[in-house]
Amino acid sequence: MQGGETGQRIELAHRARRRLQRVAERTRQRIRGVPIRLAERASGLPVPPPRLLHAIGNSEDPTWFLQGGRWAAEDIRNAVGRHGMPMEEVGALLDFGCGVGRVVRHWSRLAASGVEIVGTDTNPAMISWCRRHLGFSLFAVNSLDGRIDAPDARFGLAYALSVFTHMGEARQRHWMTELRRVLRPGGLLLITLHGDAYRDGLSPVLRDQYDRGEMVVVGTDREGSNDCAAFHPPGSLATGLAEGWEILEWHPQAARGNPVQDVYLLRRPIESGAERLRTAMVG
Ligand SMILES: C[S@@+](CC[C@H](N)C(=O)[O-])C[C@H]1O[C@@H](n2cnc3c(N)ncnc32)[C@H](O)[C@@H]1O
Repeated sequence: MQGGETGQRIELAHRARRRLQRVAERTRQRIRGVPIRLAERASGLPVPPPRLLHAIGNSEDPTWFLQGGRWAAEDIRNAVGRHGMPMEEVGALLDFGCGVGRVVRHWSRLAASGVEIVGTDTNPAMISWCRRHLGFSLFAVNSLDGRIDAPDARFGLAYALSVFTHMGEARQRHWMTELRRVLRPGGLLLITLHGDAYRDGLSPVLRDQYDRGEMVVVGTDREGSNDCAAFHPPGSLATGLAEGWEILEWHPQAARGNPVQDVYLLRRPIESGAERLRTAMVG
């Protein structure tokens, strides 16, 4: 009995110490971030408040926020360019699950060149911050299962960085269909997913499931938040999430802006006349 009580006390002490360490780390990040925040504010585009940074990346570090967003924007530009579509020619682009504009903030020149930039997210506080500070783009809140408020074939490019990583399978399929609707035929979709880098951290049962080539999702009662995590065995994409898309590129663990995630570049196929007719008749 006494041993049990002692054990409980030790466990409580450990937990308290871990909590203190987390608070100390957050405080260190806030202090280190002050000069960067002041410089960004002076340049006219402030860094979002620490609680919003934490909500997207479990970190309040503005250096990560700025550098990671810059890398992600560069990688998107390069990926699109490799397929003969310069960013300046996408017409309109969609940042699905844009969070607090970590990537959008790097598109101000692109917007000035005439590209329409749209960001959507389920989190109203993030969208409200984006609307206040990233006036060169349009932002909208979407519901977890809803639609994107845009007509068919509006965008030449869409991307979703670390968004499908936080949804159950049914919702992922729903959003792939919706993204396909708003992309024009031939339009590109870049997504980042948790892949093999996370395999060894799964429980034995989930690891077996992953090794059978099935998507694994944990925390399904918290879909849309970082407490829900989805893991995609690379081989599962063609017959799973990306069924009906052309898979143009797959780069394991290459998402510089979203560390240790796999990058997939997909294309909405251009339907032939016969296919268009069949789709219209089925519809
Ligand atoms: C890990 S954060 C990444 C944010 C942003 N893409 C980035 O890389 O900075 C995941 C984001 O996806 C958003 N999200 C999750 N489910 C969503 C959904 N069904 N529709 C739109 N946004 C969603 C969350 O609110 C959150 O902002």
